[in-house]
Amino acid sequence: MLLFLDTADLEEIENGLDWGMVDGVTTNPSLIAKQGKSYLPTVKAIAEMVPGPVSGEVLATDREGMIDQGRRLADLAENVVVKVPLTPEGLVAVRTLTEEEIETNVTLCFSPAQAMLAAKAGATYISPFVGRLDDISEDGMGLIEDIVSMTDNYGFDTQVLVASVRHPQHIVQSVQLGAHVATLPFKILAQLYEHPLTTSGLDRFLADWQATGRSFDD
Ligand code: G3P
Repeated sequence: MLLFLDTADLEEIENGLDWGMVDGVTTNPSLIAKQGKSYLPTVKAIAEMVPGPVSGEVLATDREGMIDQGRRLADLAENVVVKVPLTPEGLVAVRTLTEEEIETNVTLCFSPAQAMLAAKAGATYISPFVGRLDDISEDGMGLIEDIVSMTDNYGFDTQVLVASVRHPQHIVQSVQLGAHVATLPFKILAQLYEHPLTTSGLDRFLADWQATGRSFDD
């Protein structure tokens, strides 16, 4: 199970890498806009920091534009994965980029049918947005279950990348369902470490030893 950070914030990425749990990073135009910095230099800076895959999204919506921007993103660094929206034009671009051995991440997936089309186009990753489905009272993790069984049934190489993660339970369920990757905001990565019994247990251990009046060395 790979964990990617869903952010364009360099400080968050630095912290996540320091904890040794971050296998890659995903960005999108909204996340980069939030940083108030230029687009391509931000993707490049992230790709230089992170040893694993870094998704940078195209801004064009026509196939020629997406292919051109995809090539330019891929030229930034070897680990850049080109993120392409799930549209007919986007999947044509994915086919061309795949033929050129450029890795792709098909984003904005909300149905098993869309995921099947992305897998047929040769996407390296398919990104179903679970949180946004939950937000409209649909079953985000049910979609993951459907897509994982589809990729298993047909032996697609496309990896299921759980996106739009809102809470730790999305990660737990992703593991149970056998998703290949989940991308999560830094706040949720930090929450994965937390349990009240860990906190209170550690407080008790330290207090008990402190009460003896002795130190680590005596
Ligand atoms: O990066 C795509 C996805 O993870 C966005 O998440 O929280 O904006 O729905 P969210």
